[in-house]
Amino acid sequence: MKTKRDYVNENDWAPEAIEAILDLAGKIKAAPRSYRTALSGKSLAMIFEKSSTRTRVSFEAGMFQLGGLGMFLSSRDLQLGRGEPIADTARVLSRYADGIMARTYAQATVEGLAENASVPVINGLSDLLHPCQALADFLTIQERFGGTRGFPLCYVGDGNNVAHSLLLTGAKLGARVAVVTPPGFEPAARIVAWARETASKSGGAILVTQSLEEGLPGARAVYTDVWASMGQESEAAERVRQFEGFRVTSRAFSMAASDAIFLHCLPAHRGEEVDADVIDSGRSAVFDQAENRLHAQKALLVELMGGAS
Ligand code: CP
Ligand code: NVA
Repeated sequence: MKTKRDYVNENDWAPEAIEAILDLAGKIKAAPRSYRTALSGKSLAMIFEKSSTRTRVSFEAGMFQLGGLGMFLSSRDLQLGRGEPIADTARVLSRYADGIMARTYAQATVEGLAENASVPVINGLSDLLHPCQALADFLTIQERFGGTRGFPLCYVGDGNNVAHSLLLTGAKLGARVAVVTPPGFEPAARIVAWARETASKSGGAILVTQSLEEGLPGARAVYTDVWASMGQESEAAERVRQFEGFRVTSRAFSMAASDAIFLHCLPAHRGEEVDADVIDSGRSAVFDQAENRLHAQKALLVELMGGAS
């Protein structure tokens, strides 16, 4: 009997398995029609506690393109929102669907779904991690630069879910990931420790610093994300003050390698974490990156939900 696998924390995955997803994503992107019955008759329950454009639409369209069905479930409308336990929700959805994707506030919620579901569970962003985003990000880097091993990426901004997944996935893929944050907004110590341990085996490298001058030189991808994530709206004004000096301006971007690209998971706030003349320039790869959510997630879905059920 095949045991189910989840993608709730990329740290649980072997580097070769993550590389295999990226390789399959490249094949699916090149020949999407060859995979149009890969998940025929299968369905994915998609739970959202928070807003989404890319994650919702790329998973829903991806399931359709693979011959299956994506079911959008707002937690506001589910009994979950009225207090039905996570464990019961996971068990019930496992009787109807072949997989569950969830965007939650707490990482513990998506982990609770995974523990109690008999079908694969995918993390579509939690307050701790955004593993599907990092798959798309490194697929974009692999396409543009031919590989990820030793690749120098510098993330500037909040040490948040996106930064955490860049650290973990990057370390698995042997990348050199620098994270530059204002004081007090560093990535979680345990994530940095996991990433460092992984990088020591993969040949990658991890740097956490408060200095743009230390993090940016040599970077071939400069990445940023919003200063206030979903759930931190009340801190937004104060954060604008605290993050001043950590905006990706054209001057900051010019400190990176001469062939550097600009990446952002989106949605972006022009004039806050990035200036319009960077994100809207020819060096920006943000829309290829957004497109790659579709291809990377289709590969993940085939990997987790493909084969006889
Ligand atoms: N990058 C990302 O996850 O976008 P959405 O919030 O629109 O899903
Ligand atoms: N860090 C952001 C990412 C959105 C895709 C958030 O959690 O809101």
